[in-house]
Amino acid sequence: MLRRLYHEQPESFAFTPANQAWAEAQITKYPEGRQASAVIPLLWRAQEQEGWVTRPAIEHVANMLGMANIRVMEVASFYFMFQLQPVGSVAHIQVCGTTSCMICGAEDLMAVCQEKIAPNAHEVSEDGKLSWEEVECLGSCANAPMAQIGKDYYEDLTAERFGEIIDELRAGKVPVPGPQNGRFAAEPLAGLTSLKEHESGKTKYNASVQRATEIGDTVKRIDGTEVPLLTPWAGKNATPTSKARVEAAGGIEGAEAATPDKPAAAKAASEADRAKVEGAGDVERKAEAGKDGDSPKGQPTAPSGEAGATGTSKGDGDSSGAEGAKPGPKAGKADTAGEATEQPQDAGSEAGKEGAAGAEKPSAAASSEAPAGPGTKPETLSEARGGKADDLKAIKGVGPKLEKMLNSMGFYHFDQIAKWSDDEMDWVDQNLEGFKGRARRDEWVSQAATLAEGGETEFSKRVNKGDVY
Ligand code: FES
Repeated sequence: MLRRLYHEQPESFAFTPANQAWAEAQITKYPEGRQASAVIPLLWRAQEQEGWVTRPAIEHVANMLGMANIRVMEVASFYFMFQLQPVGSVAHIQVCGTTSCMICGAEDLMAVCQEKIAPNAHEVSEDGKLSWEEVECLGSCANAPMAQIGKDYYEDLTAERFGEIIDELRAGKVPVPGPQNGRFAAEPLAGLTSLKEHESGKTKYNASVQRATEIGDTVKRIDGTEVPLLTPWAGKNATPTSKARVEAAGGIEGAEAATPDKPAAAKAASEADRAKVEGAGDVERKAEAGKDGDSPKGQPTAPSGEAGATGTSKGDGDSSGAEGAKPGPKAGKADTAGEATEQPQDAGSEAGKEGAAGAEKPSAAASSEAPAGPGTKPETLSEARGGKADDLKAIKGVGPKLEKMLNSMGFYHFDQIAKWSDDEMDWVDQNLEGFKGRARRDEWVSQAATLAEGGETEFSKRVNKGDVY
């Protein structure tokens, strides 16, 4: 099938504060200049939040990663794990139709989908709760036929059992994933002949199913407030996630779980975060999430079954009593021109912004009330001289969004940027939300110095020729 953007799109996309914090922390996992590698986790989280990947979500992710929108679109349209159209509010079912599964009855499963969900793939059922599609091999051929529902695999299916599973989902239950014929994993039907460890009763299910039942988010939308963040990451160098966002999210969501051995400084930072969120967030849940790096247990698993929406960005169709995905307050429109050259980095390391003493020079800028941070605030203007700002996008690494950001901070001209001292760069760095490190890495000061003198850089030549979009 053609994988393209759906014809109806929501106006905007924004991660919930907790998901935003999570996403920013994910970005810090990758080496400098390689932040684009976070594209799949970020798109996946956007889908977990909204149910499907919308155009504004693609643009939002592109913006966060400094990628051209089309690059993110390429990823989203390549992998069929990403849904590009509205899906059922409870679950989207992916039936494997490749050789092993086909031989073992995939066509019967698809007939069940047509009967119980909708006649055509990618059509949302009348009640808005379910949708389905045929996909290529999901790598569980030894348990054919199988289907992926939400995040989990349902294997060794028969048409009858599959029908029951669909009914259960529709009724608000979450059937236990894994083999549906009594097998533990992919052992011979006649039973194990070796490697019998599981028979010791150590776990009830195989590792995958055990984990799925413990986490309990098989078909749950992740809005970041009801489900702990299961991949807590304190960031490279143990940089904690954005304090402000975590606060807004109401908790640090197990941020300590992933880094039992983290350095003292990071621990202190986390503790500072914890102190800030005490009382505001669900501390018990955090504690649970933080135990030995384990996933929290006892998470709600049963969907309410009363999901109303059909997978649009309104996302009312949360499956376990959470409020579901909600569009955030921020418009997610990404800028395009020049953004391909932008590489946000260390986006998660904003903790400490608040309270850090930023010695500020007097400024005429009414519009430059960006938060303080380490370093010294450079001299700013309240408006462009003569009412005409320089085209800051001629500086490599500055796209329309960053230009707007710089203007709002009181920077309109090349000569202003050319004058930034190291200390002032620190301040700017702290206040370029989502683009920390950009100014230094792309050497804005030297570029701006050239441009301020009327010279050209390789990049500005391309801009002037109209080669940068
Ligand atoms: Fe269906 Fe491989 S053929 S999982």
